[in-house]
Amino acid sequence: MSIAAKEKVSYRPFLKWAGGKSKLIPQYQEFFSEFNNYYEPFLGGGAIFFHLLQNRSPFKAVLTDINADLINTYRCVRDDVEKLIKLLQEHQEKHNQYYYYDLRNCHNFNGLEAAARFIYLNRTCFNGLYRVNPKGEFNVPVGKYKNPKICNADLLYSVSEALQSIEIAERGFEAVLDYVKTSEDFVYFDPPYYPLSNTSNFTGYSRYSFSKDDQIRLRDVFAELARRGVKVMLSNSDCDFIRELYNDFEIREISAARAINSNSKKRGKIAEVLVTSY
Ligand SMILES: C[S@@+](CC[C@H](N)C(=O)[O-])C[C@H]1O[C@@H](n2cnc3c(N)ncnc32)[C@H](O)[C@@H]1O
Repeated sequence: MSIAAKEKVSYRPFLKWAGGKSKLIPQYQEFFSEFNNYYEPFLGGGAIFFHLLQNRSPFKAVLTDINADLINTYRCVRDDVEKLIKLLQEHQEKHNQYYYYDLRNCHNFNGLEAAARFIYLNRTCFNGLYRVNPKGEFNVPVGKYKNPKICNADLLYSVSEALQSIEIAERGFEAVLDYVKTSEDFVYFDPPYYPLSNTSNFTGYSRYSFSKDDQIRLRDVFAELARRGVKVMLSNSDCDFIRELYNDFEIREISAARAINSNSKKRGKIAEVLVTSY
C-alpha cells in the first residue's frame, strides 16, 4: 500500500464491546502518556489501542485478554483475514433470526470458523453484548437490526495490516508483571468495573467473574508496575472502594453514559475514575 493510501486508513474497533471506551477518548486525551511500548491486558474491543494506532507513530504492542474466543478472533484477523472475510460474507448472506440461533447454539467451531462465528454473533446480537453461561456458551438473544453490517472488509483489511507486528495472547492481567519493566512502557488497564450496586454487577465477559479480590490484586499489579517506573493508566467506577485502593495515585473524574442497563430509562450519566501513576 502506498504512503498516500495509508494516510487515509482509519483504525477503529471491529467489534462492539460492552464497556468500550470510544466515547470517552476526548476526556482521556490529555492523560495519555508518551511511550515506546504499549500493553493492554483487558483488550475487549481495543478502543484505546486503535485510537493510539491512528494518532501516534508506529509502536510495539502486546494485547491480551482472558477471553480465549476474543483472542482467537484477533489472531485470525491478523493472520488470515482474507479467508475470514469470505466466511463472514457467507454469514452475511444467510443472516436471519433462525440462522442466528442455529449458529449461536452450535459450539464446536475452532480457528477461523470460530472467529467468523464470533464476529457474526457480535454484529447481530442484542446490543453487541458478550455474555456466556457457566459452561462458556454464548447466550445473548438476537438484536433487532434491519440490515446489520456483518462484514466490513475495508476495516478488517486495515486492522489486519496494523496488527501484523503486534503480539496478541490469551492471558490473565497479572502476566504483565513478567514482561513490563521500564519507563518506556505504557499500560492501560480497563478491567470489568467494580459494581456500584448489586444490580449493576456486569461480569458477563467470560466464565470468570471479576471479584473484589481481583480488584485488590489488580491494584497490587498497578502499584508494582508504578514502582518499576512504568506509566500506568486505569479506568474503573467512581466509588469509595476504588478511590481508597488507588489513594496513592492521581485520580481524575470522568463522566460517562451508563450503557449496560437493560432498562433504557436508567441509562443516565455516571461518574468513572481514571487513575494514573504519573
Ligand atoms: C471493560 S472490558 C474492556 C473494554 C475495552 N477497553 C474496549 O474498549 O472495548 C474488560 C475486558 O477484561 C477481560 N477480562 C476479565 N477478567 C480478566 C482477567 N482476569 N484478566 C484479563 N482480562 C480479563 C474481559 O474478557 C473483557 O474483554
